[in-house]
Amino acid sequence: MAKPILKWAGGKRQLLGDIYARFPADYRRYHEPFLGGGAVFFDLEPTGGTVNDTNPRLVTFYGVVRDRPDALIERLRAFDDPDAEPDPDQAFAEEGWDGGEVEQYFYQQRARFNRRAYGDGEWPATAAERLEEAALLLYLNRTCYNGLYRENSSGGFNVPIGRYADPDWVQADRIRAAGRALAETDVRNEDFAYVLDAADEGDLVYLDPPYQPMSATANFAEYSAEGFDRADQQRLLETVERLDGNGVDFVLSNSGVTYDLYDDAGFAVETVGATRAINSDETARGEVEEVIATNVPEGRRAGRGQAGIADS
Ligand SMILES: C[S@@+](CC[C@H](N)C(=O)[O-])C[C@H]1O[C@@H](n2cnc3c(N)ncnc32)[C@H](O)[C@@H]1O
Repeated sequence: MAKPILKWAGGKRQLLGDIYARFPADYRRYHEPFLGGGAVFFDLEPTGGTVNDTNPRLVTFYGVVRDRPDALIERLRAFDDPDAEPDPDQAFAEEGWDGGEVEQYFYQQRARFNRRAYGDGEWPATAAERLEEAALLLYLNRTCYNGLYRENSSGGFNVPIGRYADPDWVQADRIRAAGRALAETDVRNEDFAYVLDAADEGDLVYLDPPYQPMSATANFAEYSAEGFDRADQQRLLETVERLDGNGVDFVLSNSGVTYDLYDDAGFAVETVGATRAINSDETARGEVEEVIATNVPEGRRAGRGQAGIADS
């Protein structure tokens, strides 16, 4: 069993048991259209299916983890302590891309990472650039404040430096294990609706979209500059209805406010509790109501206690 490499908002490790309990005992291939940190995928280590995310940096990252894990580890080992002086031999040794003074190695790496405008299909164009972007993403993820990935409206990663006594941004064993888990998997960078073509009868799809906010003021939907709005939630419902019509099993986790949507559509919906480490603001943490919806009838479920449910 592999483990997630990145810390990602909405990570599902604490819900693995509830999710697996609704999986069918048998299925053909496995697809995960909203991969994020991939808590379920890496724990399950399925072969032959697809994973997907609209965040292009994340997809570049997983491609490098799968295809060049040792090169990634070697590159990560060359990074310096986040508090160190900027490296004069690297770009942005004095000023970041936005003109701000660069005083620490961390901010220099953040500026280097952000030189790729969001959605810019031109970069990374080469294998060396992809390796560099993947290394920067992991380095920043493990050394930034609270280990969260957040972008501003123009797609720039904007999380400040974290305070860790001994940050480990290499994680060689996790990278190698994740690379093996991805070896037979198609990694895509599309909208989730690709799964209508990718999933065949008898396949299983697990969906974990950005959550619809529980209240008008909460804003959980900021995983990328593109966001995920109510129209996307409606499209998602239509997508799982079509999967159902195609004989594809699905299990979907979402915020409590979507309960009626899936219940009215005739799917099995249950509320589960989870502590979502999603916000740097401590007061925004805590028990958030979540639901799991599925078309897998109880008689075909694997049930609780399936091998592979993770310790953390
Ligand atoms: C809740 S997170 C998934 C977390 C994941 N289950 C984990 O364990 O870390 C949702 C993901 O969906 C991605 N996303 C947002 N809009 C999308 C879309 N239209 N199609 C596919 N992925 C999308 C985001 O980039 C984000 O990584």
